[in-house]
Amino acid sequence: MPTAVRPTPPLPGLTVRRAALLGWFARAGRATLPWRLGEAGARDPYRVWVAEILLQQTQVVRGLEYYGRFLNAFPTVEALAAAPEADVLKAWEGCGYYARARNLRRAAGVIVQEGFPQDYAGWLALPGVGPYTAAAVSSLAYGEARAVNDGNVRRVLARLYAEAVPTDAWVQARADELLDSARPGDWNEAVMDLGATVCTPKAPRCSECPWRDFCAAFASGTPTAFPVPKVRAAVREVRAVAVIAGDLREAVLERREGALLGGLSGLPTEELAAAEAPAAGLARLCARLGAVPGAHLGTVVHAMTHRRVILEVYAAQSDAARTPVARAALSRLDHKALALLAPWQAGLFGPE
Ligand code: ADE
Repeated sequence: MPTAVRPTPPLPGLTVRRAALLGWFARAGRATLPWRLGEAGARDPYRVWVAEILLQQTQVVRGLEYYGRFLNAFPTVEALAAAPEADVLKAWEGCGYYARARNLRRAAGVIVQEGFPQDYAGWLALPGVGPYTAAAVSSLAYGEARAVNDGNVRRVLARLYAEAVPTDAWVQARADELLDSARPGDWNEAVMDLGATVCTPKAPRCSECPWRDFCAAFASGTPTAFPVPKVRAAVREVRAVAVIAGDLREAVLERREGALLGGLSGLPTEELAAAEAPAAGLARLCARLGAVPGAHLGTVVHAMTHRRVILEVYAAQSDAARTPVARAALSRLDHKALALLAPWQAGLFGPE
């Protein structure tokens, strides 16, 4: 991190800027990431596409684990297209934003009929593929000169030019201008890697940066002031009750709806109104299920990007059909809730 303010340095030409970053990428890029098998520009589009969808809302560290699991389950686009939706959701379990998995499967169906799209526009037309993914896949798998624009790219470019409030259009224009069209796949990954490993949000390692000598934010003495953080929507606190009618093997489960969890199975749950007591929510939930409420098993707190859920979990007796738990795709929250049952089933709290 710099301490002194320096005069804003002149930007060298594009050739120098490109060579500096690509040289750094050859030395320090994350070449061993499993979705980077093969030369950029000539990679398996299926592997690249799955990785780019997965990495949209998932950190690389967690993505590594899920990527292997997903590709093991569905090694080819044909296998993905032929799989039941429930199996695809099971393989995506834990990754969040499950609409991504359902769209992957839908798009796989299109690809099996029509073949892999060969360019940016073709990818953009597939379900679940936006400008970022279309640019990433067309550059990484086909060598098309398309610059990606994501959070890492935004931060790196905002700092290079000391742009405090970069708009999407501004970032895209700078990225398009800088893109090395002879090696667009390497270029895009180089910018991503610089953002992820050197030009990090809170503690950038400017001494390791190939662009330090002409980075306007570095020269300012306060590189982390660029870009100004986006105002985030407040985290909403949600209180809810859930029941476990069954055991860790088989329980009554419901289908979740919505983009975040849609298609997953989950414990029967009711959200509580503002000042509603859990007992009232439990009574409402049990009336809906025709169930008899049982013991309070515990409280689970689960933080997501925009929500913090406080879930009171109860046992219940119900004659409703039970589903094998191990085969169902469940959210992390439901897994945490079910885990409350383990000590009871192990007999630690005595017979029920
Ligand atoms: N994040 C999104 N796409 C990525 C990629 N191809 N490599 C590393 N991190 C990424």
